[in-house]
Amino acid sequence: MPLDLQQIRQQFPSLRRPAIFLDNPGGTQIAQASLDRMLAYLTQHNANHEGVFATSRESDAVLEEAHRAMADFLNAECPEEIVFGNNMTSLTLHISRSISCTWKPGDEIVVTHLDHDANITPWVLAAQDRGVSVRWVDFHPEDGTLNLEEMGKALEGKPRLLAFGYASNALGTINPVKKVVEMAHAAGALVYVDAVQYAPHGPIDVQAIDCDFLVCSSYKFFGPHTGALYGRYALLDELFPYKVRPVPNDPPGKFETGTQNHEGLAGVLGAIEYLEWVGGTFGGDYVEKYAERYSERRLRLKQAMATIRSYEFEISRLLLDVLEETPGVTIYGLTDPRRLEERVPTFSFTLKGWHPRQVAEELDKAGIYVWDGNYYASAVTERLGLEESGGMVRVGPVHYNTVEEIDRLGEAIRRIATNKG
Ligand SMILES: Cc1ncc(COP(=O)(O)O)c(C=O)c1O
Repeated sequence: MPLDLQQIRQQFPSLRRPAIFLDNPGGTQIAQASLDRMLAYLTQHNANHEGVFATSRESDAVLEEAHRAMADFLNAECPEEIVFGNNMTSLTLHISRSISCTWKPGDEIVVTHLDHDANITPWVLAAQDRGVSVRWVDFHPEDGTLNLEEMGKALEGKPRLLAFGYASNALGTINPVKKVVEMAHAAGALVYVDAVQYAPHGPIDVQAIDCDFLVCSSYKFFGPHTGALYGRYALLDELFPYKVRPVPNDPPGKFETGTQNHEGLAGVLGAIEYLEWVGGTFGGDYVEKYAERYSERRLRLKQAMATIRSYEFEISRLLLDVLEETPGVTIYGLTDPRRLEERVPTFSFTLKGWHPRQVAEELDKAGIYVWDGNYYASAVTERLGLEESGGMVRVGPVHYNTVEEIDRLGEAIRRIATNKG
């Protein structure tokens, strides 16, 4: 059953604003279910962790349920494999200290030019601290896909770690994650996957892709500003934690330093409940496909993400047409309509004669919100030679965006393109 956009949009109070939100790769709007969970937490259960009194017990129950829900979302083996934190960047900076503890001078690690800087610099800094060298894997500038030949060569150095992304926040490319993890494991490397951009667009199964770590951020998938890290239990268990003494030595607590953002965790739970509703309401077509491997909430979440992905193909196709029809537009990343499976609907482009900032400002005047610049994927804009000229304009629909909104974006861009340049 296809998504009912009217019903979907009713779940997002901020979509009542007369605006077109295409800034989603920078952060989505929040679902009512997530807001409800946060309000209920703060007004009914607000307390610190591990007290013997009622609100503390209730609060702990919410935090535990948030870990369970996130484990279901990612198909982790158990909730103890989920570490919450402020955001992906802070989690990565933190755990990179623990992961790099055993690196020795002469060791190597691998990062890619296609990644957001949050999955590059934490590793480069850790490497500097330990006297470890960093190898960079390129992407093909003509279509934004990862250079797998170079990846193979980089892995020949038997690196300690490969850090790479599930999907690019600049070019929209979805990497062949399972295959790359296999290649890295064959070379003896641990694999750290940044799934921040992929999480709102498709199903994730950490056991199927067999990664060691995977990170995402709930404000990119309809929840509040809170990050989550999956780590294989045995690894989390053995890693040295940078923590204060009274904190337990078991995962995930040993990495959840200080008082957590409890209302944020409640909000993550609510966002996942929203997605569970999407799966249960609209995901009927995917029951058969997934029922063998998943059940209950895990199944409904897979149904949700598959339904969302299928709707987003249509939106991608339309957006691609709209951009390609506009004179002066250059799209960076995959544009072959037969290869939409290999991308999320995040499209970046430049418009001849216009600075990306000016395009974003003109679109804002039309009530259309988009990003411009490098969105912290500075390795991408540098590689494409666009860093000095203001980067690119980025439009990123999600499943609550409508066909009419994409049409209106098209009209607005064509108006800008024909005014000047
Ligand atoms: C691909 C990717 N990785 C990492 C991040 C950083 O996430 P956070 O803001 O949670 O630190 C972002 C944010 O835009 C991103 O798009």
